[in-house]
Amino acid sequence: NHPMIFPNRVHFPKTSRRLPQSLIIGVRKCGTRALLEMLYLHPSIQKAGGEVHFFDRDENYLKGLDWYRKKMPHSFRGQITIEKSPSYFVSPEVPERVRAMNATIKLLLIVREPVTRAISDFTQLRSHGITTMLPPSSFDQIPDSSIAKTDEIYFPGTTQASGTSANLASLSSKTFEELAIFPNGTVNESYRPLTISMYHLYLHRWLEVFPREQLLVVNGDRLIDDPLSQMKKIENFLGIDHRITRNHFYFNETKGFYCLRYDSGDRCLRETKGRKHPHVDPLVISKLRKFFAEHNQRFYELVGEDLGWPE
Ligand code: A3P
Repeated sequence: NHPMIFPNRVHFPKTSRRLPQSLIIGVRKCGTRALLEMLYLHPSIQKAGGEVHFFDRDENYLKGLDWYRKKMPHSFRGQITIEKSPSYFVSPEVPERVRAMNATIKLLLIVREPVTRAISDFTQLRSHGITTMLPPSSFDQIPDSSIAKTDEIYFPGTTQASGTSANLASLSSKTFEELAIFPNGTVNESYRPLTISMYHLYLHRWLEVFPREQLLVVNGDRLIDDPLSQMKKIENFLGIDHRITRNHFYFNETKGFYCLRYDSGDRCLRETKGRKHPHVDPLVISKLRKFFAEHNQRFYELVGEDLGWPE
């Protein structure tokens, strides 16, 4: 393929922008960015750079599928285009809209142990200076990454954008414990980071619209400690060759997470991915784990798999 060079753009014949054949629908803070960047190690995968939010934002949805297609990268026939927008999972109108575009689309849902996810969400919100209760509608507008939407990975050895996290953290008023548990000791179920961790509340809507086989549950805790196990599962699900190998990952001691080895070089996710979590009172953790037991059970029943989260 010889690129044809037009003023201001290079275009490869035989490629075109295609609507996604697979979506990472959520859940926020479960490793959605890491998952997309890891899948991009595969030669058959193309990814949309940022979060497009086509299906969950009316102002985008009303622009139509042609607008959406133009947000997609160029791909060869046979490649799979993937987009991730974590708020798709929790937005009621999204499953039907996705089906209207492509009833055979493959859905990737990445989940993590719910209490850890809630603390991760709290940590992110705190980095944005948000430590109070927000109505759900405005909560979901908070970006899934705090610095750049498109460029959440950096090259090791280069300077990362210095976040404002530290400054904002000092503005924080309420702790996780105060937000999650009422003074009378009961769990504040309407604290959004906790509500979103009740995965079954949202998943049932997807399963009313899509057959179970069209959705793959990715284990976000395993993605952290054994990414290859999840990549193999996804390659099977997407029907693509096993091309992602052990050599694509190396553990970065400084970051404390796996980084990725692309043909073009080594990359880690940005500092907003893999943040240090605040210390949370162990009594609060165990109270929340007990609280989630029943919700987790409902989720396991919906997906037909026990993820073994601690109670
Ligand atoms: P923490 O920052 O709380 O550790 P999302 O992209 O959906 O916002 O998810 C962010 C989470 O991805 C991080 O949460 C981190 O635990 C997880 N993650 C998984 N694999 C990672 C990796 N290789 N590098 C950095 N973060 C990773």
